[in-house]
Amino acid sequence: MSEPRPRLIVCTTCRAGRDVADGEARPGALLHAELSRLLTESNAHVDLREVACLANCERGCSAALAMPGKWTFFLGHLTPDHAPDLLTYAAAYAAHATGTIMPSRRPASLRNVVLARLPHLEYAA
Ligand code: FES
Repeated sequence: MSEPRPRLIVCTTCRAGRDVADGEARPGALLHAELSRLLTESNAHVDLREVACLANCERGCSAALAMPGKWTFFLGHLTPDHAPDLLTYAAAYAAHATGTIMPSRRPASLRNVVLARLPHLEYAA
């Protein structure tokens, strides 16, 4: 059985607060593509997912980081350049008991990108 991995859900429709020409790749899609490129078979420590719109369009690119039993973190103001640091952050998140990585412990580029956190949403029947 494989180890549980943090799930990183990236909005692929984010425009990062600017106009995007017809046919131009959206910044959110570019961020997802860069993360996907970095996550190789031998380095697949993150469960990368995509979604269309996280209702944070004015502060995109947007993403959420979640894992059972940990806080879910909602991130904004991301760019494709954040991809390597997002994977570093996700590894630290996975290793922490609650997932709460203080800004001073995150990669410098991610110190101000956490917009909210939510309790883990697991419900007993
Ligand atoms: S398009 Fe990305 S949050 Fe709405």
